[in-house]
Amino acid sequence: MARVAKRKAAIAGVLMGMALSGPAAAQVAASVTLARDTTGSPAERAAAMLAQMTQAEKLTLLEGYFGTDFAPANFTMPPAAREGSAGYVPGIPRLGIPPQWQTDAGLGVASQGGAKQKRAATALPSGPATAATFDPELAYAGGRMIGREARAYGFNVMLGGAVNLLREPRNGRNFEYAGEDPLLAGAIVGAEIAGVQSNRVISTVKHYALNDQETDRGTGNFIIDEAAFRMSDLLTFELAIERGHPGSAMCAYNLVNGLHACESPFLLTDVLRRDWGWHGYVMSDWGAAHSTAASANAGLDQESGFGLQSDAWFGPDKLTAALAKGELDPARIDLMAGRILAAMFAHGLIDDPVTGTGAIDVAANQAVAQADAEAGIVLLKNDGNRLPIAAGAKRIAVIGGHADKGVISGGGSSQVYPDGENAVPGLKPTGWPGPVVFNPSSPLDALRKLLPGTRIDYASGDDPAAAAKLARGADLVIVFGTQWASESIDVPLHLDGAQDALIDTVAAANRNTVVVLQTGGPVLMPWAGKVPAIVEAWYPGRMGGAAIANILTGKINPSGHLPMTFPRSLDQLPYPGEPRKKEATYSEGATVGYKWFDAKGLSPQFPFGHGLSYTRFTYSDLAVTRTDAGVVATLTVTNSGERAGADAVQLYVSAPPDSGWEAPKRLAGFAKVVLWPGHSTRVSIAVDPRLLSVWDTSVPGWSRVPGGYTFSAAHSSRDLGKGVSIQLPAERLSPQWRP
Ligand code: BGC
Repeated sequence: MARVAKRKAAIAGVLMGMALSGPAAAQVAASVTLARDTTGSPAERAAAMLAQMTQAEKLTLLEGYFGTDFAPANFTMPPAAREGSAGYVPGIPRLGIPPQWQTDAGLGVASQGGAKQKRAATALPSGPATAATFDPELAYAGGRMIGREARAYGFNVMLGGAVNLLREPRNGRNFEYAGEDPLLAGAIVGAEIAGVQSNRVISTVKHYALNDQETDRGTGNFIIDEAAFRMSDLLTFELAIERGHPGSAMCAYNLVNGLHACESPFLLTDVLRRDWGWHGYVMSDWGAAHSTAASANAGLDQESGFGLQSDAWFGPDKLTAALAKGELDPARIDLMAGRILAAMFAHGLIDDPVTGTGAIDVAANQAVAQADAEAGIVLLKNDGNRLPIAAGAKRIAVIGGHADKGVISGGGSSQVYPDGENAVPGLKPTGWPGPVVFNPSSPLDALRKLLPGTRIDYASGDDPAAAAKLARGADLVIVFGTQWASESIDVPLHLDGAQDALIDTVAAANRNTVVVLQTGGPVLMPWAGKVPAIVEAWYPGRMGGAAIANILTGKINPSGHLPMTFPRSLDQLPYPGEPRKKEATYSEGATVGYKWFDAKGLSPQFPFGHGLSYTRFTYSDLAVTRTDAGVVATLTVTNSGERAGADAVQLYVSAPPDSGWEAPKRLAGFAKVVLWPGHSTRVSIAVDPRLLSVWDTSVPGWSRVPGGYTFSAAHSSRDLGKGVSIQLPAERLSPQWRP
């Protein structure tokens, strides 16, 4: 009450001055004053602002434009949009409400491929690399870096926070996401979102939901049983949202259980708002809205990308017509505009507006990207300790992957353009969903710098015979393999072109061959048995070459662990032939990734959670207790090797018989530790009770069966220590339960 009275007094004060300078000027002053009055909660401030707004102004907030002028001829990009960006929603100057300047920002500040001018920005490594760190603090630092650059460029709504579950290993966008486990993906992406928003800008969680492949992404109807949905993809979003508190969420292109995701009351209202209690606003993906009243009534607040697509379902004409026909209640417009305003207030867009004039500390930001890449690179195989590179190596042959120039990145709307040039221009496709962009960070140059006494020669691999000749004369061969993936396509599970054959040829010429992969997700490795060492470097970002060299030489101890299973063959997948088409049931339900491999007793090429080290970590004295706060596991981690390094301790849990679980075990928690050789530390991991339950649609809510639950500390999902069992009683948690 006091806050409202104060605001009214402030408005009255300004209104009194109005007589001196005319009504219009007074209205401006009154309204801008209201924007600057920081008393009240975001919802209260939004309500007060709404009360000042005309209907036309409210509608302004509900339709977004594309922010690049290569769009169709009949579309004129609003001049106030940031050219080359994803989107723009006009502000309301008389009320002190700034525009929403939107950019893709999952892996760095992106630019649209067709834009004439591209903003140079710092590319983080791809999503799986950050997930492979098992380190939410690093993820937060990456998000904070992106938000910092975005703010400097004048963006205040980031389209980052991509957290679709890796259900389809061929999904061309897996490089934007965080792998196959709900807890790991939710924790990593939630931390990224929080990091972005620490700059007083909004971050978006996306693509909600079940946009787990690109094949038929606009028309596919993906069907899933509710309980399985709640325990897999929805749980992933739930965890990311409660950890990151994103100001916005983006509904997906596809249909879910028969309804467009942007038209689904179940997704947009029942789950997001009623169950999860989330207060942000929902924007559509670019072209994902298909109706006016049905979408608005389902819970879509803002349509995006008008101009890129020709429909403006939330344009003033259509909204006004829907109101006139009674299909939309006027209160719905207030609700939609109010949610957008409340998020803008909550995240500082109005109190601390972006100006687009900030400086970027390139070196500091590149250091963030490099630390992320170094922690995310996974040492998959290291027979006979071939790595790190021995100090006395005389001749090294580096082959393929454009390693003399840079490191590859993934394509589509998340594409970040580096400072300097694309290191390998002209590769196909040069137009959408390309271009193929290589960050100018050459692994070859970085290796030469770190190994000044070693002769290091390079062969492109275009001529396999020449590559084999070079390999034969070397002490050690490092062959680079790349797979380009992109939004709007799914990709085969192998390296591009003839690289598998090249690796075979090189490995036959010299047994001492190390393979370094840069891929969007898992690939098959028909040559895995022929080489002693394999490193997965993902798309390692702006400083990828330096990060790879630091890992290969042992300057940094590898500590990344796979956030996804690498299958041995296509027939191990739930859907082996090719990605699903049109109308498809996700019959594997919540049995995704390692859960599928465990349930079916399949032996993968490399399991979820796998990652070797140059030192050795041992786990002891695992104890599991039930406290008032829930189940807590405690264990001692010891670095029993010779080098300092980091480790990702994983905790898995198995349920009693007849638990209804989707799989024999689940990841229940994890912790990242850094230890000097010979040192130990005690680690505590609290277990989220939802991970010990199943979703019971009949109640509805989370339900835990009573009985013995077995916890194991593990180096991977297939390398578990001795289990410790604990009896747990039955437990029910409401859908609204939150930690
Ligand atoms: C993508 C979104 C992206 C949007 C704007 C869409 O094609 O699916 O992830 O944020 O474009 O660029």
